[in-house]
Amino acid sequence: MGLVSAKEMLQTARNKNYAVGAFNINNLEWTKAILLAAQEMKSPVMLGVSEGAGKYMGGYATVVGMVKGLISDLNITVPVALHLDHGSYEHAIKCIEAGFTSVMFDGSSAEFAENLQLTKKVVELAHAKGVSVEAEVGGIGGEEDGVIGTGEIADPQECKQIADLGIDMLAAGIGNIHGKYPENWQGLDFDVLKEIQDVTGNLPLVLHGGSGIPTAMIKKSIELGVSKINVNTELQVVFTEATRKYFEAGEDLVGKGFDPRKVLKPGFDAVIEAVKEKIIEFGSANQA
Ligand code: 13P
Repeated sequence: MGLVSAKEMLQTARNKNYAVGAFNINNLEWTKAILLAAQEMKSPVMLGVSEGAGKYMGGYATVVGMVKGLISDLNITVPVALHLDHGSYEHAIKCIEAGFTSVMFDGSSAEFAENLQLTKKVVELAHAKGVSVEAEVGGIGGEEDGVIGTGEIADPQECKQIADLGIDMLAAGIGNIHGKYPENWQGLDFDVLKEIQDVTGNLPLVLHGGSGIPTAMIKKSIELGVSKINVNTELQVVFTEATRKYFEAGEDLVGKGFDPRKVLKPGFDAVIEAVKEKIIEFGSANQA
């Protein structure tokens, strides 16, 4: 099936009560690992690209080329959506033009009227090209890509207004945080999530900050309409730890140990395992 918009895969997930993992990619190894894990688990998957990661990888055209190439060369047949994560208006347009199949326009830091107006424009431009759109209301706390957010619980009435623009998925702040959850974290606000679900009907909801949320809360979110869960930090941790252990183990670095393919192999394997675990937890295995 290859590269597709996220619309259908998320609507199916919503109807069948599971969530599709949206895993952030940072380099070739992660991308390949995520695609192979999804294929093995027979799961639809989304690849999230932050503006910073897009720049790091060389630019959006490089990302599109890499992902399309891997899908073809690795015979990936499960549905894959290539998605801009937390994009500005300008970058959402760039990604639509570069061949992404899904974009998030994150206008949550602007006044709501401006968020609404710009989301509407992104929906028009994206849908004209069959690209799906995620919008955000409220705010996700924590730090991502150098951007620090304090988090803000979404207003269900604003969620309804933005949902009515015809977006394909909605990220709403419900106490979720990017990165590690602090010891004194209050947990997710399921009362607000329920209100948001009541006013947005069958719209797939998105849970950002998917690393480190207890499984019971993940399951409850899915029951309340969450159909896409973003994961980045957990993959960063397992990748980096596995790479560090490789060096600490004192492999024969003078011999073949300097080979970058060997150096990155433990991290690559660790990402495959972490993604498979998430796919099982989110219930999307054997759905593609
Ligand atoms: P984590 O880094 O907490 O997994 O969150 C990822 C995310 O929400 C990307 O948008």
